[in-house]
Amino acid sequence: MDDTPNQAADVVVLGIFVADTTYTAARMPRMGETIMGTDFALGPGGKGSNQAVAAGRSGARTHLVTRIGRDAFGEMAERVWAEAGVTPRLCGDGMARTGAANIFIDAGTGDNAIIVFPGAGAGLCPDDLEECRDLLGAASVFLTQLEQPMPAAERGLRIARQEGTITILNPAPAPHSPLPGALLELCDYVTPNETEAEALSGIAVSDIPSAAAAAAALRAQGAGAVVITLGAMGALLSDAEGETHMPAHDAGPVRETTGAGDAFNGAFAAGLASGMAPRAALARAVVAAGISVTRPGAAASMANAAEIDKAVS
Ligand code: ADP
Ligand code: NA
Repeated sequence: MDDTPNQAADVVVLGIFVADTTYTAARMPRMGETIMGTDFALGPGGKGSNQAVAAGRSGARTHLVTRIGRDAFGEMAERVWAEAGVTPRLCGDGMARTGAANIFIDAGTGDNAIIVFPGAGAGLCPDDLEECRDLLGAASVFLTQLEQPMPAAERGLRIARQEGTITILNPAPAPHSPLPGALLELCDYVTPNETEAEALSGIAVSDIPSAAAAAAALRAQGAGAVVITLGAMGALLSDAEGETHMPAHDAGPVRETTGAGDAFNGAFAAGLASGMAPRAALARAVVAAGISVTRPGAAASMANAAEIDKAVS
């Protein structure tokens, strides 16, 4: 679909884009019922796309390997990437529809109910990654999640590892069972949140000591290093040098935490790609995520390099 030649890349993200359509009402509709809503928003979503936007805005030359359709949501995706300086590497023929998520929010309780249609993104396959081998090899960091089919993620991690590129797996959404050790062994970093860390390790994560225990368990399963994001408690890095807890960054009143993990992962990848040591990249990621939660929206709330630099120093 896209014949753009390979360009120099710091970060290559594999992942999907979906258009988030968010409907708010005083309560949830019952099955078969139609009710009037109080708010509507249309915006960019998809963890891979959001993480690429975060990496791009935080200063990395970023490419996104993905699939979208030739439709209005696909045009939205390309606009969002252009604004963030992200170069898309579009796979497939563009005939499948761009993904979309339908999010219902109960204004009374804040509860939500969501249907995600991955659309074209569900077509991402190992051959797509093989076609990007040069790009993955030229990059410093490869970052992926679990919203596209597992064989695509697995092939991307394997190629990046073969090509000497740092690999990061953000295991989101939470898998239903532990990941195969062979997959974790392809990861220089695995970056779950609390829920995902519990799903992968079987250890309930509620504080720093339990996060350290879950991280140790995931390293024993094969992951090189583990970063567990802990919401308002910040993040914990466990690697060969030991464990480091980085408290959350307070950038002001919290408005919306949707996409905080994506802000974190994109900035962490960008930091490593710029040659930072893991703990310096961790500090930068915590600052970028802390800024993002003070702003509405997911992709639109990502911090830029100047904002991050100012808060880090
Ligand atoms: P996810 O969005 O995947 O659930 P987390 O909730 O763990 O991820 O958030 C990712 C990162 O965002 C955290 O490690 C932290 O640095 C930052 N963060 C999240 N919530 C807050 C908050 N309320 N205040 C400050 N920083 C936050
Ligand atoms: Na946000």
